[in-house]
Amino acid sequence: MILVTGGAGYIGSHTVINLLNAGKEIVVFDSLENGHIEIIQALQKIGDVKFVKGDLRNIEDIEGVFKNYKIDAVVHFAAFALVGESVENPAKYYRNNTFGTLNLLDTMIKHGCKKIVFSSTCATYGNPNYVPVDEKHPQNPVSPYGSSKLMVEMIMNDYDKAYGLKSIKLRYFNVAGCDKDCRVGEWHEPETHLIPNIIKSTFGEGKTFKIFGDDYNTPDGTCIRDYVNVEDLAEAHRLALEYLEKENKSNVFNLGTEKGDSVKNVFDVCEKVLNQKIPVEVVSRRDGDAEALYANANKVKTVLGWKPQRTIEDSIKTAYRWEEKMETK
Ligand code: UFG
Repeated sequence: MILVTGGAGYIGSHTVINLLNAGKEIVVFDSLENGHIEIIQALQKIGDVKFVKGDLRNIEDIEGVFKNYKIDAVVHFAAFALVGESVENPAKYYRNNTFGTLNLLDTMIKHGCKKIVFSSTCATYGNPNYVPVDEKHPQNPVSPYGSSKLMVEMIMNDYDKAYGLKSIKLRYFNVAGCDKDCRVGEWHEPETHLIPNIIKSTFGEGKTFKIFGDDYNTPDGTCIRDYVNVEDLAEAHRLALEYLEKENKSNVFNLGTEKGDSVKNVFDVCEKVLNQKIPVEVVSRRDGDAEALYANANKVKTVLGWKPQRTIEDSIKTAYRWEEKMETK
């Protein structure tokens, strides 16, 4: 049985669907602080998904899961992920993302479970010295969020040496899009991400999309990111689990498309794909935004055989369908 922490969240729920399709048995552990019970209900319509409500900060909660189920491997998503909030409230991030993960790892070791796939982030690199960013790029996070994830990567490396814990660290770039059948999707409160915010501006009156700064040193002045589709990302987790089963080795991979898109470019693609004019204004820069960040994903292609299958247009289309569903709920 595979334990998916944070399976009621955005990337977690898409990965649960992928793993169900691969015939895996799943137990989801989620505090529902950011995840949604409706997402669990949607997953339970697709397959036999067990659900345990609990918080990683309480070691008894996670201990209960390992007592009740025979867990072969863990896919660990549960985390807070707002960069700005992490600057205001670092304690929340270190307690949950770092200390909570320590509880999880210690419980795994105690019960003899030694395989984990971990949601890391390109935020562990900080402001890049060069792009595309490969896995060897120095890790100098500029936010407590990035630091909280980097600390986990380091702990995992030490736990491998000392206790034989095998971990795959997946460093995501910008995740976008939703399930093609619209069963689960991106549901953040508040929503801070680019594509959902552009799409939200197409619903209702007076919702003008705001571009955070057009005075960066990039061709059109707006920030460049690498938008990887969430269903493609989910597939990478399945491949990472298979790698752990076959190779029983720790490793780390960037997950991105290797293509940089500027904010203006994404906005233009949205107008084109959705075939409508979207109200927009340029406002000042958002604190902490790196100018350009996109991946060198050569390693994941070579070692795991993963390749993105979906385009940014696909991500925008599925994200729109999901938002439409949410707006009419
Ligand atoms: N942006 C806007 N307007 C918006 C929202 C975003 O112009 O309403 C811009 C941002 O300024 C940025 C780009 O769109 O230039 C992408 O912003 P997102 O908030 O969608 O994503 P980030 O790149 O800030 O964050 C993502 C992940 C984080 C991760 C980070 C690492 O969501 O979890 O990448 O850089 F930490």
